[in-house]
Amino acid sequence: MLIRPMRDDDIAAARGLTHDALEIVRATTRPPGTPGPPPGPPSPSWSGLWTRRAKHFLQHDPDGCWVADRDGEVVGVALSLRRDKLWGLSSFFVRPDQQGAGIGTALLDAALTYSQGCLRGIIISTGDPRAARRYRLAGFTLHPTIRASGTVDRRALPVVDGVREGSPGDRDLCDSVDRQLRGAAHGADHEFLGSEFGLLVCDTLTGSGYSYVDDAGSPVVLAATTRKIAQRLLWSALARSPEGAQVHIDFLSAAQEWAVDVALAAGLPLRPEGYLCLRHMRPPAPYIPSGAFL
Ligand SMILES: CC(C)(COP(=O)(O)OP(=O)(O)OC[C@H]1O[C@@H](n2cnc3c(N)ncnc32)[C@H](O)[C@@H]1OP(=O)(O)O)[C@@H](O)C(=O)NCCC(=O)NCCS
Repeated sequence: MLIRPMRDDDIAAARGLTHDALEIVRATTRPPGTPGPPPGPPSPSWSGLWTRRAKHFLQHDPDGCWVADRDGEVVGVALSLRRDKLWGLSSFFVRPDQQGAGIGTALLDAALTYSQGCLRGIIISTGDPRAARRYRLAGFTLHPTIRASGTVDRRALPVVDGVREGSPGDRDLCDSVDRQLRGAAHGADHEFLGSEFGLLVCDTLTGSGYSYVDDAGSPVVLAATTRKIAQRLLWSALARSPEGAQVHIDFLSAAQEWAVDVALAAGLPLRPEGYLCLRHMRPPAPYIPSGAFL
């Protein structure tokens, strides 16, 4: 078994094994009675997004992207990024029939070589106990996280002012907020995030913040210098949710009570799911990380 740098022509196999591994971990770690999507092939929109994201990381972080290759077949993938002095793990998956045999350990070791020179580290973990074990043994602190998901109670939506549509011209503002909160900008990731998602910005005399938002009104990432501004941004994201759409607010550690309070007021049920794993840093707040761009 060979651990080697990932190439463009590995993307399809890496995407396929990621989908298969994700389906199993979601089904096995979901609390009893919690509905989930039916098993099936990946949707074209999921596959397209995964492919474009993998290309983005191969372009910007080629030394952070690794695959496990068994006799010419890709059986595992780890995609990691480095922004300023922050290292993050964006994807970490082993094909289900190959799990538990040490491949993940070898892949994570390779991805961690890309963290050399970084001061801090961040990973969003599923609830898979094998993933949690690997991350803790690599020196990360595990912060349990909450997922809020459901349909927004539109009667609860408050009138929010001071939030506007963002544009590429807001990139310096976003980078400045991120540096204050987590010591690192998202940098090149704004190109990707801005091309895939809507951007909301709030910039006032008392502070500033931004959020990328998907078509369902779910925040993809949200960062602000005050909790009040973060709440304004989150309400504005939820207000974009089309009638009846399923929204989700993910990866909320206990440091994000401002977001838990908004989720509850919007009628979204909470459940525990996974961990925010941090090395040499506290949970940034008020902040909702992106699973892929952290
Ligand atoms: C997480 C994952 C990438 C790890 O890869 P892997 O090849 O299975 O991992 P390894 O075999 O190298 O290591 C697994 C570790 O978990 C331990 N383990 C196995 N089953 C376990 C269980 N049920 N509970 C706790 N630990 C367990 C193993 O003993 C091993 O630890 P050790 O080497 O210190 O003894 C892989 O299991 C996977 O794809 N899981 C599903 C997707 C996922 O959740 N990915 C993480 C995304 S954040």
